[in-house]
Formats: sequence, structure tokens, C-alpha cells
Amino acid sequence: MAGQGRLRLGVNIDHVATVRNARGSVWPEPLRAALLAEAAGADGITAHLREDRRHIRDGDIAALKAALSIPLNFECAATDEMARIALETRPHAVCLVPEKREERTTEGGLDVAGDQARLTEYLKPLRDAGCRVSMFIGHDARQIEASAAIGAAVVELHTGLYSELHAEGRFDEAEEELEGLRQGARLAHSLGLEVHAGHGLTFDNVDPIAAMPEVMELNIGHFLIGESIFRGLGPTIEEMRRRMDMARGGAV
Ligand code: PXP
Repeated sequence: MAGQGRLRLGVNIDHVATVRNARGSVWPEPLRAALLAEAAGADGITAHLREDRRHIRDGDIAALKAALSIPLNFECAATDEMARIALETRPHAVCLVPEKREERTTEGGLDVAGDQARLTEYLKPLRDAGCRVSMFIGHDARQIEASAAIGAAVVELHTGLYSELHAEGRFDEAEEELEGLRQGARLAHSLGLEVHAGHGLTFDNVDPIAAMPEVMELNIGHFLIGESIFRGLGPTIEEMRRRMDMARGGAV
């Protein structure tokens, strides 16, 4: 049933690797951040292995899988190379995202409806390997229905537009986008999909997303890593946890 259980927090550690790679060195280590996040109450760790390896690298994925005792959510584009790595790694979850080389971050959701036949085949070996496969999509009904049709276990609803509108003070439009996300969450849940959400979430905008009863997990990265410069990673994660629990009605 929607709203049962505690809302999970997946911490995305990509941008620890961004800082490491800026100097071409080995420090700061994404694995160390992941273990700290685990100790601070993260329910899972997300890492996006991009085709261009701009942040997370293959060795990071292997190290995370070997050392974590909480679930690893492997985020990737639906390519043959990534399927091979996912099958070697066998993470708890695989989140499929659209990827463009020139983008700064994941812009927009995956077009599941437009690639249904290929994605149906793509998912099969991942599912057989025991991975929960998630589609990172916008909240439109077509994409949600297509995700259910291809046999995905999870949809992650893209909160990037809502986050941008909120940050720009365009609150009426942000509210409209939120309503779309609410309807999408309800539809996905009614089709038997587990609902996650993420992108651009911060202390200031997380409450209405966390309050959606169908949403079972939030994946948050950039803000948590940035804020940890000021507060430290553990306290930043603890504060996000507190806000999520409060938005959920104080339930833990
Ligand atoms: N979920 C997905 C599928 C993403 O691609 C990203 C960004 O890598 C996030 C969540 C986290 O977004 P942010 O870093 O803005 O919190």
C-alpha cells in the first residue's frame, strides 16, 4: 500500500568523483563518501557510470559493490556496454536514464514509449540477474504505462523541472508541475510500479515530494555533496532525513 514504510533516501555520490577527477588524483574517494553516507543513515547509494566516465569510473562501481552493505543503485544509459557491466556487477538496482554527451546532467526523462520493443529485451537479462530495473521518466501517462508494459519494477519520476521552477521563484508553475508528479505517482502505483523520485532536490524543495504517499525512495546527489562542504556529509544527510521524515508526517 502507498505510504507504508519509511521513505528511503538514496545518496548519489557522483560529485565526489567530480571533485576527485578535477585534479586527476585519487582524492576524495567516492567509496569513503558512500561508507560515511551509509553510517549517517542513507538507505542506498546511487552512482551513475556515464559513457564518458566524467565522474564515476568502472573501478568505483566495483569498489562500491564490494564494500557496501546497503543497496547499490547503478545508474546508466541503456547501452550494451552498460548491460555488460551491470551483469558483471549485479547491483541491487539498475536505473536507466537518457544520456547525451553534451549535457551537464540528466536532462529530461527516458523515452520508454518510443523504445518499447528494444527496452523490453534489454530488461530481461537484468531482471533474470535479480536486479530491480527502474526507468527514469517524466510524469506523463504514456511513459508510465510503457514502463509497466515492458516489465520495469520501478519508475523514478524526474523532479528536475519542479526543482528549477521552485529555485527561480516561479511557484505557481512549480505547483502545476507538482500536481503532474502527484498524478504520475498515483498512476504508476496503480499499475503496480514502485515509485521513486529525484533530481535537483534540496532542503528547500524536498517537502512536497517527500509527502507524496506513493513515493518510496528519493535519490539525491548534487545538493547533498555541495552542502556537505559547509556542514559535513553526515550532518547534511541526517538533516535531509529529518526533513523527509517530517514531510511524511513525522513517521519513521
Ligand atoms: N536520479 C537520477 C536518475 C539522476 O540521474 C540524478 C542525477 O544524477 C539524480 C537522481 C540526482 O540528482 P541530483 O544530483 O540533482 O540530486
